[in-house]
Amino acid sequence: MCGIVGYVGQRKAVDVVLDGLRRLEYRGYDSAGVALVADGTLGLAKKAGKLANLEASLDEAGLPESTCGIGHTRWATHGVPSDRNAHPHLSADGGVALIHNGIIENFGQLRGELEAEGLHFVSETDTEVAAQLLGREYAIDGDLTEAMTRVCARLEGAFTLLAVAADDPDTVVGARRNSPLVVGVGEGEYFLASDVAAFIAYTTEAIELGQDRIVTITREGLSVRDFHGNPSEGRPYSVDWDLTAAEKGGYETFMRKEINEQPTAVADTLRGRIDGSGQIVLDEVRMSDQDFRDIDKVFIIACGTSYHAGLVTKYAIEHWTRIPCEVELASEFRYRDPVLDRSTLVIAISQSGETMDTLMALRHAKDQKARVLSISNTVGSTIPRESDAVLYTRAGIEVAVASTKAFLTQLAACYLVGLHLAQIRGIMYADEVKAVLDELVATPDKINMLLKDMEPVRDLARASAEFGRVLFIGRHVGYPVALEGALKLKELAYIHAEGFAAGELKHGPISLIEAGTPVIAIVPSPRGRSLLHDKILSNIQEVKARGAKVIAVCEAGDDITGVHADHVIETPASPTLLAPLLTAVPLQEFAAELATALGRDIDQPRNLAKSVTVE
Ligand code: M6R
Repeated sequence: MCGIVGYVGQRKAVDVVLDGLRRLEYRGYDSAGVALVADGTLGLAKKAGKLANLEASLDEAGLPESTCGIGHTRWATHGVPSDRNAHPHLSADGGVALIHNGIIENFGQLRGELEAEGLHFVSETDTEVAAQLLGREYAIDGDLTEAMTRVCARLEGAFTLLAVAADDPDTVVGARRNSPLVVGVGEGEYFLASDVAAFIAYTTEAIELGQDRIVTITREGLSVRDFHGNPSEGRPYSVDWDLTAAEKGGYETFMRKEINEQPTAVADTLRGRIDGSGQIVLDEVRMSDQDFRDIDKVFIIACGTSYHAGLVTKYAIEHWTRIPCEVELASEFRYRDPVLDRSTLVIAISQSGETMDTLMALRHAKDQKARVLSISNTVGSTIPRESDAVLYTRAGIEVAVASTKAFLTQLAACYLVGLHLAQIRGIMYADEVKAVLDELVATPDKINMLLKDMEPVRDLARASAEFGRVLFIGRHVGYPVALEGALKLKELAYIHAEGFAAGELKHGPISLIEAGTPVIAIVPSPRGRSLLHDKILSNIQEVKARGAKVIAVCEAGDDITGVHADHVIETPASPTLLAPLLTAVPLQEFAAELATALGRDIDQPRNLAKSVTVE
């Protein structure tokens, strides 16, 4: 959600900034803009639509030759996507340009105050308020860092801000509260960006900034301070993936590439995570073994696909540890007064580590003294930083908006946490844990096998494209997989897709079935809980009797399901609880193919942002 890039160095700033924005496109946006400063001049270009529109307008904009600038891709919140509402926004005198990610909650009050002073606004955005305030403060002492510090003291809400001033052409000042901002450190050049993908082509050295920080970059160096003006420091780290990870590598889309990276991503997430005594190794732990033993309740909070990973985890945690586990949409959690205390473990799952709903739920949990363990794919992001313990997934950068490898690696990490809890609390014997771990470690090869035979799935997807509706049903861990399959299809193909607990169909949704409705049934292994298997076969019969065309995702060798369904997609055999690592994969491919058949942009579906940094 909104991409932000700032640069100062020796290179042509317009090239670096546009390159960075291109690499942040995956975050989702509907307009884009840049501001460059040189020799007392500030040049601005901004356009609604994709980056190509902005690039086409650059000649006409007459931007100055510059080695210092800022750029932005906007995901509209306040005001429609338009040239006027696109960032950067200017101060009244045109001397300061500012870009913003987040929401300034008190913008109405501030706008009223500035208008009363005679300032005129040209956009409908909350951001312009910050630009106008900054211009006013900058006029006082001509110090952009001091001015930004005073502005931040007035703002409420979540924001990352970057600003440049015409008469300070070698400086970019940034600020962050509850929104992402990282620093890239090159030789004689510095970068500020929403995430490292924006500058990975130039440097892998980065600095993580704490909460409520202001950072100033010049060609000579950088300085960090808190919102009170006290000097501060960031945490330096090296990014351990390179440019090739952020490129398509021969695939037509990032989503296809990421689907195919899943065996490696899951294997990487498991690698080295179990020590000699069978304990899992968390990345950052500010909790003792005793803290883990004292836990009497688990809450999982997450959004979207990460929430579905949480739903699967509930089955595993309750089965393996016998600790009650609830899963809640992060956006609902804090508004319903959940009962938490020191012996509650909250597991926050977030690929980006920046999802505002999840962050706010995490803070609510911490306010109630609960312990928080986060599972994230983004080192240095806010959610892990604010957690008591962290387990990072190692999916590498996920560029496509639709999560695929993030989902599978979250599942792998959650299974590890469940087994860790079971072992540390003495609920499972070491050999029982090892038996599950052996199965887990065998999964990447099975995913690989599955991916080699996707053509039948693609055929089924294309054949289902004309119907305009697909329903998904499942039981037990197959139910969250059904929800995830439906989410993938909705977000990519823009058609009606819904996941149901198969047993619920007869309580209402079965009335949606008409002749030919495609229904995808996630069938559990007949070797596992055979009762579950029998029950879903009955559900398949119920929808078939009403005209549905049933595609069953079932275990290889499950001949009984083949008798009932119209088509089967076979997955390699797996223990029941681990099966989602396999059954989710054909559903991802199904959604990608069906959406492609409908001509959709599967990497950047309409209206969506990869990282949702507003509540
Ligand atoms: O970064 P997060 O895991 O916190 O993101 C949560 C959701 O926005 C995300 O899972 C979203 O639902 C997926 N990109 C959908 O494919």
